Amino acid sequence: MALITIFDEGKTLTDEETVTACLKSYGVDYQRWIPAHPLAIDASAEEILRAYSREIQTLKALGGYVTVDIIDVSPETPGLEEMLAKFNREHWHDEDEVRFIISGHGVFHIHAENQSVIGIEVEAGDLIRVPRGTRHWFNLCADRQIRAIRLFQYVSGWTPHYSHSGVDHNFLPVCFGVSQLPYKSSAATDFKSND
Ligand SMILES: [Fe+2]
Repeated sequence: MALITIFDEGKTLTDEETVTACLKSYGVDYQRWIPAHPLAIDASAEEILRAYSREIQTLKALGGYVTVDIIDVSPETPGLEEMLAKFNREHWHDEDEVRFIISGHGVFHIHAENQSVIGIEVEAGDLIRVPRGTRHWFNLCADRQIRAIRLFQYVSGWTPHYSHSGVDHNFLPVCFGVSQLPYKSSAATDFKSND
């Protein structure tokens, strides 16, 4: 179950109904896919995609997604820090960012238009859709591991536009369950519309 932190209100949300409604107010769609399909801990990307093929087809039909892949990172991943450095700066995409978490943990910070930053800590079973144009960034949690299904609306795949706002420097890159404490929060001042 995702954990939501609303930094400027000092609130953490853990109830599914409350989490879903809160994220909706920030433009983010959230679902729990339960029951998740059983998978071996070392399941290959092909096995994961095969297990979730029905759900993937449903999402593709609903959101116009044309490609799907598996992102699979762990402390042993070569070049992990360089890879994470692409994700952990505030950016947006010209397409939705859709992720279904298979294993591991991570935290998305969402900086929606005219709203303060919230954090979404995700775990296995969480499906989120960050709409195109929404500023956000991503960090791993202490386990430094995540496997997730990614869906894309363009065959070019993951293409970020960096804001270079520095807002991401104001939030510790750790997860709510441990010690996610903001230095300060900041409202959006420059936003690319997702319409
Ligand atoms: Fe992104």
